[in-house]
Amino acid sequence: MAITQDDIERAASLLRSGGLVALPTETVYGLGADASDPAALARLYAAKGRPADHPVIVHLAGVEQLGGWVAEVPDAARRLAARWWPGPLTLVLRRAPGVLDAVTAGRDSVAVRVPDQLLTLEVLRRAGIGIAAPSANRFGAVSPTTAAHVRAGLGDDVDLILDGGPCRVGVESTIVDLTDPARPLLLREGAVSATELETELGVPLAHDRGPSRAPGMLAAHYAPRARVELARDADDLAARARRGLAAGLRVGTLAPQDAGDSPEGALPLGRLRDAKAYARELYALLRMADDLGLELVVALPPSPEGVGAAVRDRLTRAAAGSATTD
Ligand code: TXA
Ligand code: MG
Repeated sequence: MAITQDDIERAASLLRSGGLVALPTETVYGLGADASDPAALARLYAAKGRPADHPVIVHLAGVEQLGGWVAEVPDAARRLAARWWPGPLTLVLRRAPGVLDAVTAGRDSVAVRVPDQLLTLEVLRRAGIGIAAPSANRFGAVSPTTAAHVRAGLGDDVDLILDGGPCRVGVESTIVDLTDPARPLLLREGAVSATELETELGVPLAHDRGPSRAPGMLAAHYAPRARVELARDADDLAARARRGLAAGLRVGTLAPQDAGDSPEGALPLGRLRDAKAYARELYALLRMADDLGLELVVALPPSPEGVGAAVRDRLTRAAAGSATTD
């Protein structure tokens, strides 16, 4: 099942001719389309069932391709790109004239990133174009971290799924808005932490998790069908699981490895070694909860260092989303 040069060439030529190709990245799988082709973007939005007011990230082979996409590259952006690209960091910059409204949802800014995945980088190099790639799930579903997740969600609506194996990071990229370089804004947490960014930038980061800045971060996006509850500590995890069981629910638990045993009767869905493992496995485990017909998932997040903050953020959204849906 190894990917060959032919597969890479086919992916690149499909993208150049307006096709939809699911691409592995280090974070989650993306659904790729030529970011300068209105028809390809229309197909992309239709396949995802995504509202038109949600902008998409343009994926590039390297920093040298920024030219056609952004109006200018502020010094702060240059520094972050030099340190983290290719990598799980998306920069929101002022857009160049000519970037389609379908990419930016009509904003003055555009989101760009260089993903750290060899197959996809090779596809991007050969295609030689910017690739719009939202996560390769239908609108409102958990992001896919394997090719099988993509197939289950999008099936025949994709021309090709490039199988690069399970994603190494497992949660979506960190997003920083540098449209005002003097006031960098953190729009989404990811594997590149706020602390690391602040150290590199030398200024504090404002946090803005509001839906207006980065639409698409609605709580329900991260929620499985099962209700998700966040536990404060191991005792709270056990108490919540027991309450669910007493109410007759099928209960699963997610927790760091050192959190103790799952209470009798609850399924230990995941016991994660550290925050990195938690991030890598999180979405697959939430999908598994649904496949197993669980009705309640009680999760104890990892400590908030490194990617732990992003895991906490996604679990908090999953919990809020499941409370507001049904
Ligand atoms: O890790 C990732 O970033 C993955 C992989 C495939 O690269 N992509 C991803 O794309 O998560 P998506 O479309 O699911 O999420 C993109 C987020 C959305 O919340 C969107 O609102 C925000 O980026 N975004 C895109 N362009 C923006 C802009 N110009 N200003 C503010 N937010 C923007
Ligand atoms: Mg998404």
